[in-house]
Amino acid sequence: MDEDDVVDLAQLTGDLERLQADAVSAAAATADVDALEALELDVLGRKGRLTTILRGIGGLPPEDRPRVGAVANVVRQAVEAALAERGAVLRSGALETRLRNETIDVTLPGRPIRRGTLHPSIQAMAEIAEIFAQFGFVVYESDEIEDDLTNFQKLNIPPDHPARDLWDTLYVDVPGLLLRTHTSPGQIRVMETTKPPIRALLPGRCFRYEAVDASHGFEFFQVEGLMVDEGVTLGDLRGLLDQFAHAMFGAGKKTRFRPGYYPFTEPSVAFDVECLVCGGSGCPACGRSGWMTILGAGMVHPVVLQYGGLDPERYQGFAFGMGPERIKMLKHGITDLRLFLENDLRFLEQFR
Ligand code: PHE
Repeated sequence: MDEDDVVDLAQLTGDLERLQADAVSAAAATADVDALEALELDVLGRKGRLTTILRGIGGLPPEDRPRVGAVANVVRQAVEAALAERGAVLRSGALETRLRNETIDVTLPGRPIRRGTLHPSIQAMAEIAEIFAQFGFVVYESDEIEDDLTNFQKLNIPPDHPARDLWDTLYVDVPGLLLRTHTSPGQIRVMETTKPPIRALLPGRCFRYEAVDASHGFEFFQVEGLMVDEGVTLGDLRGLLDQFAHAMFGAGKKTRFRPGYYPFTEPSVAFDVECLVCGGSGCPACGRSGWMTILGAGMVHPVVLQYGGLDPERYQGFAFGMGPERIKMLKHGITDLRLFLENDLRFLEQFR
């Protein structure tokens, strides 16, 4: 529109009314919220069609200007109302579509949750702890990195003692420290910190410099047991281990003590249970002996009690050490210890 043109009132009012009719029907025809917003900008925006028409006001005689202004307001309100009305319709439609598309079908079967399991070694330690808990044994923890003093010397194994050959040791690069070769140093740790009566169970990881085969690992678990009190006897040990064997392997299973040797127990024994495969009459699984050894044990050596800070004249105790993997192997007929460390799910998933 040319600014200098004389614009007449009728023409401007007509333009405004046409814009209104146009915009209202266009609003009703929009398909979505985006199109509606574009239309609003086109009609009512700062550079929109309404503004463009109103620029013509300047060409009107002054007395006509307010009348156009009044018409323009009516038009703006009518267009705004049409936009709002259509907007409400579109938005509720969009909501319905979303509700329809996003409905959850509660009748569909759920996605299975992949549940993990405890590792069989951990399971075995928990089962062992549960049995001994019934006899008042409390679980203690002790460190995997030990000092030579506690792993060996305080267990009556001096530096040049030939018994050190029983425990091929992995050393760490701090002099005097090593990866514990058994859980027995835990006996010392408990005696040093606890007053008798002591009934302690010490499950944990052990390490040895060992050529790995079906029955030897460089890393494995042990569960140590320690009881110290006045008047504890080998008979108490025997009775307790019988109860354990019956709870773990079945009531009435035959058991036996054989003489053994450990520097930190005197006397020392090996504890056997009748073979689970042949029931005691001799088979290849038990080397035809009919017996399976499940742990080493003995009466705590007086020197060890002393190293633990206890008076051997007053206190006696017994200790035992067993391999939870070995117990699982005997129970389930597993023939290779390496399976416990390979993390093959086909093996692990069988222990649900
Ligand atoms: N510590 C011994 C081992 O590793 C087992 C044991 C523990 C023996 C306690 C006697 C008493 O073979």
